[in-house]
Amino acid sequence: MMYVTLALVLFAHFFSVQSTTRSPIVIVPGLLGNQLEAKLDKDSSPSILCKKKSDWFTLWVNLDLAAPGVDECFVDNVKLRYDENTKEYYNNSGVEVRVPGFGTTDSIEYLDNSAIYKYPYFNKFVKYFEGLGYTKGKDLVGAPFDWRFAPDQLSKLGYYDALFVLIEDTYRNNGETPVTLIAHSLGGPISLYFLSKIAPSDWKDSTIKQYISLSGAFGGSLHVLLGIISGDVEGVFTARPLVLRECQRSNPSQVLLLPSTQLWKDDEVLVVQPKRNYTAFNYEELFTDISYTNGSRIYNEVKSLISDFPPPNVTHYCYYGTDVKTIDTYIYGDSFPNGPPSGFVYGNGDGTVNARSLQTCNLWKDKQVYPVTMKSYSKVSHFDMVSDENVLQDLGKLLST
Ligand SMILES: *[C@@H]1O[C@H](CO)[C@@H](O)[C@H](O)[C@H]1NC(C)=O
Ligand SMILES: *[C@@H]1O[C@H](CO)[C@@H](O)[C@H](O)[C@H]1NC(C)=O
Ligand SMILES: *[C@@H]1O[C@H](CO)[C@@H](O)[C@H](O)[C@H]1NC(C)=O
Ligand SMILES: *[C@@H]1O[C@H](CO)[C@@H](O)[C@H](O)[C@H]1NC(C)=O
Repeated sequence: MMYVTLALVLFAHFFSVQSTTRSPIVIVPGLLGNQLEAKLDKDSSPSILCKKKSDWFTLWVNLDLAAPGVDECFVDNVKLRYDENTKEYYNNSGVEVRVPGFGTTDSIEYLDNSAIYKYPYFNKFVKYFEGLGYTKGKDLVGAPFDWRFAPDQLSKLGYYDALFVLIEDTYRNNGETPVTLIAHSLGGPISLYFLSKIAPSDWKDSTIKQYISLSGAFGGSLHVLLGIISGDVEGVFTARPLVLRECQRSNPSQVLLLPSTQLWKDDEVLVVQPKRNYTAFNYEELFTDISYTNGSRIYNEVKSLISDFPPPNVTHYCYYGTDVKTIDTYIYGDSFPNGPPSGFVYGNGDGTVNARSLQTCNLWKDKQVYPVTMKSYSKVSHFDMVSDENVLQDLGKLLST
């Protein structure tokens, strides 16, 4: 009997040790990569199709957005307002916007709450790690954010303070086991800002085991230029590009993701139109020509936030997809900038982000003592990096050793 008890104690002890050596996961998602909720109390709306008053509802992703004409309502609720006097951004008048699910994975597994079709995002990822013994809300948590903003505003809105506390709580609640920070896409630059400019070195040394970026868009992407120039419906086929453009132009996060002048040379043409060409060094002229009156101000606010590519100064695994056709140049015809591009020149990348931006982490290999390990996955697209079997298996290995 006593042997049995001892065996049980040893058995239990073995498992508790096992569970505490598993590194807890904190996830920072990408652009459009977590749900947003809104509450309305407006005096006016752009069309009779739009509600003026409402309790909290899912603003993003909401299938109602796909109904013809309703794109205007969405844009009027999600766009940001800039006040010249206070030099601050605000939710649009009569709109409150909040990020649900901080500290859980609820608002990143699926982006839509409707029963009909859920936009899947981190669902397979979460299932995979649950299979390895992880528990949602305990050692597997999300740090969703208001993806309309760049790091400077997120800092003012308290996001980085909350992320700091979340990482520290996750570390403590799991037997002081150092945490793995995993970021996808825009989450790359957002978390790089935290690691390089906010979190103190000694805190990182004790609390963070490693940083894993999946398709981190550290140096920007041609992808956002489409939204800014002529509007991008982001897969919502019934939406009108010029309507969505207003919201894309109002979001500092989109401008933050413009191709970096550190990575693109001044003779590499990003946009062609009948009258002239633009490189990463001509954004001011581009903004003027497309009547994006606030573009230059926003660009000047965000352009030096991480443009020097500060190293995260923690062990970094930089994983990304390659060999997927990715836009290198937009070719516009006479309908520039209010019609869609008439052609594209393609290059290498993950289908959304250009290869050189995904490989930016190479630049901090000799700026930090901690190892930087890069790995590319052929034919794995930008979004598949969070669900691909091979990627998940590789992550599983990094987390359990
Ligand atoms: C540009 O910013 C000004 C404030 O500086 C604001 O009044 C105006 O509405 C903004 N324009 C657009 C199209 O958002
Ligand atoms: C947007 O609304 C939310 C909810 O009221 C508020 O917490 C947040 O600070 C607002 N953000 C901005 C930038 O106005
Ligand atoms: C990087 O981390 C090391 C070890 O904690 C520290 O000594 C060094 O000052 C850090 N460098 C920067 C630039 O923060
Ligand atoms: C724009 O660039 C294309 C190729 O990138 C080139 O063929 C064309 O001559 C350029 N046009 C102008 C106006 O510079």
